[in-house]
Amino acid sequence: MRGKSILLIVGGGIAAYKSLELVRALAARGVKTRAILTKAGAEFVTPLSLSALTGNKIYFDLFSLTDEAEMGHVQLSRSADLVVVAPATADLMAKMANGLANDLASTALLATDKNVLMAPAMNVRMWESASVKRNRAQLEKDGVLFVGPGDGEMACGEFGPGRMAEPMEIVAAIERVLSVAGPLAGLTALVTAGPTREPVDPVRFLANHSSGKQGYAIAEALMRVGAATTLISGPVSIAPPEGVKLQRVTTAREMLAACEAALPADVLVMAAAVSDWRPDIIANSKIKKSVDRVVPLIKLMENPDILATIAQGPKRPRLVIGFAAETDDVVDNAVAKRARKGADWIIANDVSGDVMGGDRNRVHIIDQNGREDWPDMTKSEVGARLAARIAETLKGAA
Ligand code: CTP
Repeated sequence: MRGKSILLIVGGGIAAYKSLELVRALAARGVKTRAILTKAGAEFVTPLSLSALTGNKIYFDLFSLTDEAEMGHVQLSRSADLVVVAPATADLMAKMANGLANDLASTALLATDKNVLMAPAMNVRMWESASVKRNRAQLEKDGVLFVGPGDGEMACGEFGPGRMAEPMEIVAAIERVLSVAGPLAGLTALVTAGPTREPVDPVRFLANHSSGKQGYAIAEALMRVGAATTLISGPVSIAPPEGVKLQRVTTAREMLAACEAALPADVLVMAAAVSDWRPDIIANSKIKKSVDRVVPLIKLMENPDILATIAQGPKRPRLVIGFAAETDDVVDNAVAKRARKGADWIIANDVSGDVMGGDRNRVHIIDQNGREDWPDMTKSEVGARLAARIAETLKGAA
C-alpha cells in the first residue's frame, strides 16, 4: 500500500487517541493521510498532534473559505484511495446512513466515490441499540466496510462489543481493501522463508544464517498487489507482515508438509534456505562429551527437495520460482538448478558477502529467455519488483 493515500475522519470518542497510532502506522508503511477532525473529535485529540503525525494540515470546517480555495470538500474526499472513519461514532454512522451533510465529515462521506471503511467505537448499549443496528445494516447494504468493534472492557467501565479495533487491525483491514484492486486480486501465492532447523538432540540443531527478510518482503509485496498470500516460515526473529497468512515450521519435512497442505496456489516462491541434510538419528537425550571424550560423528541423511517435489508434482502452481544461494559461479549454477528442479524462474544471489541477514540484495533472474541482472537494492525493493514481474506474467497468461 506504499504510495496510497487515505482520508481519515476522526470522530468524537475516547478511542480517538488510537487514531494517532493508526496514522503513525500508516506513515511507516508509506501511506499518506489527510485528516478531517469533527468538532467532537477535537475534544479528544488536538489538531496539532494530528497534523504533526500526518504531515498535513487538518480540515474541520465545511465553510472555511481558505480550505475550499485550497482543496474543496468534494476533491478532499475523492483524492484519497480510501476513506477511513476511526472512531466511527453512532452520530457519524447515523449521518451517513441517512445521507445527512451538515458538517465537513458528513459532507465528505456523502461526496466520496471511494470505499469507506468504518471502525465503530461506542458504548455497548449504544452499539446494541435498535437504531445503531438499523444504521449499520443500511450502511452495509450501501457497501460501507467495517472493522471491529471488538469485545472488552471499555473506557466507561462496561464490558461487551463497542471497543474500537486496534490500530494494527485497522491497518490490516485497510491493506485488504486496498489490495482487492491490485493486479493479483483473486489469485493465491505461497511463499517460504527463513532457514529450517534440523534437531541433533534436545538442545542442538543444524541450521543456516538465513534471516527470512527476503522471503518476508516477497510475501508482503505479493499481498500488496492483491494475492491471497500464505507464508510458510522457518524459525526467524522478524515480525510477520500484516495481512499475510503465516504458518511457522521448524524442519524441512514440516515445511514440505505445510506447503503441500497450502496448495493449490497460482505462484510458489521458495525463498527458504532449506537444510539439505538432517541427522539420521535424533538423540532423545543430550549428547554428552564427558564420558569418554570421543567426538560424536553425526551421520546425515538428505532432506526432501521441496521445490523439486512441488514443481514436478500433481499440484504444480502455474508459476514456480526458486532461489539459488551461491558462493561461486552464481549464474551457471542457477541455470543448472532451474533445469534440475523444474522451476520456471530461479532468482540467483551471491551469498558469499553479507546478504544473509542484511537488508540489501543483488539478484539475477533466470528464466526460459535467459537472464536479467537487477541492480543492488533493498530486499523490499526486490520483493516489489518481483511481485510486479509475477503479476505481469500471470495476468499476461490469464
Ligand atoms: N530447496 C528446497 N528443498 C531443499 C533444498 C533447497 O526446496 N531441500 C529450494 C530452496 O528453497 C531454493 C532452491 O531449492 O529455492 C535452491 O536452494 P539451494 O540451497 O540454492 O540449492 P540446493 O538444492 O541446496 O543445491 P546445492 O546444494 O547444489 O546448491
